[in-house]
Amino acid sequence: MKPDIIALCNQKGGVGKTTCALNIAAGLTRLGKKVLLVDFDPQAHLTYSLGIVAHDLQKTVYSVIKGLVPLEEALLEHSGMSVLPANIDLAQMENEKAAFPEGEFTLKNKLAGIRDKEYILIDCPPSTGFITVNALACSREIYIPLQMEFLALKGMGRLMNRIEEVQKSFNKNLKISGIIPTRFDARKKLNNAIMDSIRERFGDKVFSTVIRENIVVAEAPSFGQTIFEYAPRSHGAEDFLSLCEEIVKKK
Ligand SMILES: Nc1ncnc2c1ncn2[C@@H]1O[C@H](COP(=O)(O)OP(=O)(O)OP(=O)(O)O)[C@@H](O)[C@H]1O
Ligand SMILES: [Mg+2]
Repeated sequence: MKPDIIALCNQKGGVGKTTCALNIAAGLTRLGKKVLLVDFDPQAHLTYSLGIVAHDLQKTVYSVIKGLVPLEEALLEHSGMSVLPANIDLAQMENEKAAFPEGEFTLKNKLAGIRDKEYILIDCPPSTGFITVNALACSREIYIPLQMEFLALKGMGRLMNRIEEVQKSFNKNLKISGIIPTRFDARKKLNNAIMDSIRERFGDKVFSTVIRENIVVAEAPSFGQTIFEYAPRSHGAEDFLSLCEEIVKKK
């Protein structure tokens, strides 16, 4: 089977890309899906969040894209899902574009042979540079986590333009299939107002499921656990599972 490749993308920092990538992957795994999680951010937050000491790793996504090790050798396992970890080495990619003869298709070519996964989720860095474009060039779908805050919509125009450029130049099949409202707090009037305007502007591109602000979601990574391991009966676990049910239904 050909996996559905999904990039978690938003050039705005701290909006929930990594949290969503991790817990969507864990939720899909709970629903019986075979999932590969790719950390494609030099910050390596995803890798650290799974309790993996990223800075000690010799084999990472960077060594794979450089052609130094085969993909299978760099993969790690966490609670039934496969993880392609990152560390700070990946930062070099942004500055050494010329060293990648396959250019924007470098990651795509490395993931091309994977047939034993139904979903590949790629956690992008908070930028729209060469690393992110590589992730978008190999993806079929983009999920955009968005917080319902005053400035949330400000970066959306720029992000949409960048996505359009990638669609034209590298990947005509790419589509934005999901805006994920994150860290939602219904008690905040502004959250509700912005939620309404986002649904108005983006329509059915916005997932019905809303990820609520929930302290255990933020705590789980410090224990190297997903929300389903750390707090399986929390609002966070409930929201991510319902999001995953929506994702599976949409396919
Ligand atoms: N639903 C939630 N409830 C509470 N805290 C959350 C929730 N989602 C994310 N957070 C917290 O918000 C912060 C930012 O989240 P995260 O690291 O996932 O964002 P990001 O977009 O990946 O950031 P970066 O752009 O730096 O990669 C983290 O401390 C995370 O634990
Ligand atoms: Mg992140």
